[in-house]
Amino acid sequence: MRIPDSKIDEIRNAADIVDIISSYLALKKRGKNYVGLCPFHQEKTPSFNVSPDRQMYHCFGCGVGGNVFTFLMELDKVSFVESVRTIAERVGVSLPEEGRHDDERATENEALYDVCQIASRHFRHNLLKTVEGKLALEYFYHRSFSDETIEKFALGYAMNSWDDLTRHAENEKVSLSLLEKAGLAVRRDDGSGVYDRFRGRAIFPFFSPTGRIVGFGARKMREDDPLGKYINSPETPIYIKSKTLYGLFQAKEAIREKEYAILVEGYADLITPYQARIRNIVASSGTALTAEQIQLIGRYAKNITIVYDADSAGSKAAMRGVDLIIEQGLDVKVASLPAGNDPDTFVREKGAEAFDELLGQAVSFLDFKTTVFQERGMLSSPEGQAEAVRSIVETIAKIPDQLKRGLYIKHVAEKYGLYESTLHQELEKLSGKNRQRIRVAESQRRVEAEGSAQPARESLRVPTLERDLVKLMLEHGPEMATAIFDNCGPEEFSDSHIKQVNEMILHHLEEGKEWDVAALVNEVEDEQMKHFIADIVFNKYELSAGWAERGASPDEPDPWMIAEHCLVLMRKQEIDRLLAENHRNMKEASAQGASLKEFMEYNQTLLHEKKDLETHGFGLANAARGELNEETSES
Ligand code: UTP
Ligand code: MN
Repeated sequence: MRIPDSKIDEIRNAADIVDIISSYLALKKRGKNYVGLCPFHQEKTPSFNVSPDRQMYHCFGCGVGGNVFTFLMELDKVSFVESVRTIAERVGVSLPEEGRHDDERATENEALYDVCQIASRHFRHNLLKTVEGKLALEYFYHRSFSDETIEKFALGYAMNSWDDLTRHAENEKVSLSLLEKAGLAVRRDDGSGVYDRFRGRAIFPFFSPTGRIVGFGARKMREDDPLGKYINSPETPIYIKSKTLYGLFQAKEAIREKEYAILVEGYADLITPYQARIRNIVASSGTALTAEQIQLIGRYAKNITIVYDADSAGSKAAMRGVDLIIEQGLDVKVASLPAGNDPDTFVREKGAEAFDELLGQAVSFLDFKTTVFQERGMLSSPEGQAEAVRSIVETIAKIPDQLKRGLYIKHVAEKYGLYESTLHQELEKLSGKNRQRIRVAESQRRVEAEGSAQPARESLRVPTLERDLVKLMLEHGPEMATAIFDNCGPEEFSDSHIKQVNEMILHHLEEGKEWDVAALVNEVEDEQMKHFIADIVFNKYELSAGWAERGASPDEPDPWMIAEHCLVLMRKQEIDRLLAENHRNMKEASAQGASLKEFMEYNQTLLHEKKDLETHGFGLANAARGELNEETSES
């Protein structure tokens, strides 16, 4: 079933793109627009722009762009309909219900999201409504999880059975191959059907940043369970472990407010503090911490405090985390727990205030590493000390900001009683290596980005004049489009992307419909075309130099003046082309001894038109507006 266009417009009008996008990444106001780090490619300086005026976004780095609906489509990899639904919900516009599975446009990803949702509901049912589930519920209560917490994190229970979920899925008309694809069922070795992956386990779902369930962690409940304490869903098209953080969906608002994230390891290590109102917390559960996970946090805040267990495994993991975080250009602190505690037990036993205090005592990576080396007894010998300092400088070399690097070197020099210059030499050696590594990484990234950013590059090759003319028509509606097409037919445009946009515009003109750019984007199926349109809208008119001479302010150029300017240039180009062609024809004719009269006349006509154009132009900049106004006042 289709959502009526009027509904789509209603939703789009009710939604503010800045509002919606800023719930996924931090945006800062810059001029008329908002900017942030692009969620579609890796970057350290923001090139992702959101325009509240136009209700569109565009990344100058990788070329993505579109309106509020395409943002969710691209971020969540869902269909248009699905994205409209999500936003409708957000802004409180109600939509007619529909059988999700009848939706022919449901992509495989949506089907996977659905399966995870169905499974999660079943796990919750098991937990709350079955006798066997009572055991797991008791276990959660024993860990002091409240009902509210259990609900908030959608905790559940997988029955101790080979086919409980499989049978449920069959009843729900979910195909077993989809269940397998979602990581919830495992195919038997002999290929004869599937069995449940999670059996007799407490279930901790993973959410996407937008709140969809994408995978599961499962803790064993039975002593005789031969598998690990925790097992996880395998990677699936919607559960990419390196890009998923446990608790981020529930924590993101608090992370943005507090301007830092607390990073822990375990599921319970997140849930217990969260329940005690420490909400800016995420867990790397399910995988070793990755650069992508840190970038994910970086969308919301630039500071991370690692809380680690005071055992050697804990400090090793924290050491690695520190370097990873620094490399991503974020600031990191480390808070260490008393021996024998993890965040879960600590908060349960000592309370949230004690945990807050512990966070307050978090130290810089420099002090953290020093402490660890001290504990390892390295600082008592010159060799050990040299190794320690080298390791610290190694970390400093990873800081992207040069000024910060210098300040840390100063600290280390003071702390260890060393010459700054010695440390700088060491840093230089490492930075050289680092820079090379970064260069390689960046060029790889660029190649990757270019792969997905075809339209941006493509659009740069679009003839400037055509680009500016289409921008005018997109942004200034039917009146402008009519004036332009009156003086320059659609056939005079050469670029294929531009031609497609022109067709849309012509179609609207024929139907007598108004438009705004963000709405036009909905009518485009092709992703690259959406990017192309956003690219045009977010880039300035390219002929700005030209108008400055004509006394226009380059920031607020008069659109009619630009139109005039572009049309004149466009026609002049065409005349030059015709002149050259005529010249060639004339030569040919002359070689064959034919009459040249016709060619000479045509030459004169063209030169005359060119002259006329130079002196009078199309009169759009002043006269046309008057004429158009007259027309409108007549009707
Ligand atoms: P821990 O063994 O410290 O468990 O592993 P925990 O978090 O304290 O678990 P509880 O409190 O006994 O429930 C820390 C984290 O390492 C991962 C999990 O993310 C776990 O929370 N882990 C651990 C696994 O993925 N698999 C395992 O078998 C063990
Ligand atoms: Mn624990």
